[in-house]
Amino acid sequence: MTALDDASGDTEFVDFWNEILVPKFIAFKHVLVEGLTHHSEAIFPTLRVKEGDHVLDIGCGFGDTAIKLARLVEPSGRVLGIDCCDAFMEYGIKEAAAEGLDNVSFANGDVINMDFKPEYDFVFSRFGTMFFANPVAAMRNMRMSMKPGATMTHIVWRTRDDNPWLSMAEEVALEFLPPPGEDGRSCGPGPFSMANQEMVTGMMKSAGYENIEFERVDALVLVGRTVQDAIDFQLALGPAGEVFREAGEEAEAKRAEIEAALAKAIDAEKKEADGIVMDSSSWVISATNPG
Ligand SMILES: C[S@@+](CC[C@H](N)C(=O)[O-])C[C@H]1O[C@@H](n2cnc3c(N)ncnc32)[C@H](O)[C@@H]1O
Repeated sequence: MTALDDASGDTEFVDFWNEILVPKFIAFKHVLVEGLTHHSEAIFPTLRVKEGDHVLDIGCGFGDTAIKLARLVEPSGRVLGIDCCDAFMEYGIKEAAAEGLDNVSFANGDVINMDFKPEYDFVFSRFGTMFFANPVAAMRNMRMSMKPGATMTHIVWRTRDDNPWLSMAEEVALEFLPPPGEDGRSCGPGPFSMANQEMVTGMMKSAGYENIEFERVDALVLVGRTVQDAIDFQLALGPAGEVFREAGEEAEAKRAEIEAALAKAIDAEKKEADGIVMDSSSWVISATNPG
């Protein structure tokens, strides 16, 4: 059985998040949280969530969206943020305590095999559904947490071409290094795995959702405070980071040339002088649990 067929969860991907990505995400938290926020800020005012609701935030990472959702449902509503990495959620736990919020909590789990009961009015995920070992099984399990008629809204990346902030550096890295092999370690299907509207509609229907709607959000995202910060970010995370990591010693030997090529490409692509900002594009997908 391959990882993608295994509906019981996949420790390989969860281990990869914890062992490889946690330290890198923490090092570039300033880029990730500031960048990804543009895609949730755009739709937060229209989310189908209200005071008193019980909400799940799936793949909640550092917990910033769980905290914002907790503000939307207070005082009687509550939010549970779920992630497979405690090290990310520790930030959310500290932030919630610092803000004096007592209606948000966090739990560790692999979404694919958590034991949910139909008690949530709204389920949210910002860029958390693209990495499941089996996306249909995981989204079906997410649906098990929803009351009849409840809404699930998840945000995923659109195509490579619409996201130069991720794809441009990969193209540069591939001018110098081989593509990662099939058997390389990875975080799961990956950031563009839900870009195809037709395919995701089919996946969500298979997972039992109805009224599936897509809304496109285009936003500029920060990729670094300086060109060097942006280069370091690109070579640590995302598709370019994967090419670089998998190439091992060859990548380190060519680091200077790759960094020089990246600096040129980043300079040509960047939009503002104040921080390095590039185009990005997401789908905000909302669907309901029948009932
Ligand atoms: C790209 S990050 C997004 C984090 C956060 N939602 C945000 O927008 O900043 C994806 C998150 O999903 C989590 N994740 C990946 N696979 C998971 C799984 N099977 N179960 C629970 N969380 C998972 C990762 O640990 C990570 O925090």
